Amino acid sequence: MKPNWIYRLAPKAPGSWSWAGAIAFLLVAAVAILPRMYEVGPSIGGSFSLIGQHGHRASDTDFRGKLMLIYFGYTFCPEVCPATLATIARAYDDLSQAEQTIVVPIFVTVDPERDTADRMADYVANFSPALIGLTGKPEEIAEVMKKYRVYAAKVKEGDDVYSVDHSSLIYLVGKDGRFATVIAGDSSAEQIRDTIKKQLAVN
Ligand code: NI
Repeated sequence: MKPNWIYRLAPKAPGSWSWAGAIAFLLVAAVAILPRMYEVGPSIGGSFSLIGQHGHRASDTDFRGKLMLIYFGYTFCPEVCPATLATIARAYDDLSQAEQTIVVPIFVTVDPERDTADRMADYVANFSPALIGLTGKPEEIAEVMKKYRVYAAKVKEGDDVYSVDHSSLIYLVGKDGRFATVIAGDSSAEQIRDTIKKQLAVN
């Protein structure tokens, strides 16, 4: 029978090796990935000039001094968009009145062919009177989507019917008009509210 101390020592050697391996891997990952993230970060977002739900032009500069909460989707979306917009509306309602005056939730359509200004007006009213709906010419929408790195692709459902497969992220753009951070679309209202509050404390 082996003495007890062998059992105590044996697992330690391979254990410490895998720790060394894990640390080395993390160091390599940090060196390889972090500079890329740093490059990617500042290039998200930018200027836009679109059509608001009341038919007038709306550009990013109209919202300077306010924190924009931008979500991209489409009004025919069966599940994800309505759920996300309802959650954003709840997060907005949870803010203080003073905070609400400097926060603008915005819904930008990725389906401008169907989402006219009138349709956007009816749709956003279901969620919050504060929610602004933006549409535009297809090429204008495409340009904004490219700036925010939004993915969307039409999926044919029938002869004249299609759905749109799209990414689901909430973009925070600071009062200075610069992209600040991104929140996963399936976050809770509390998570969204807390991220807004944190961002308001910064800029
Ligand atoms: Ni959607």
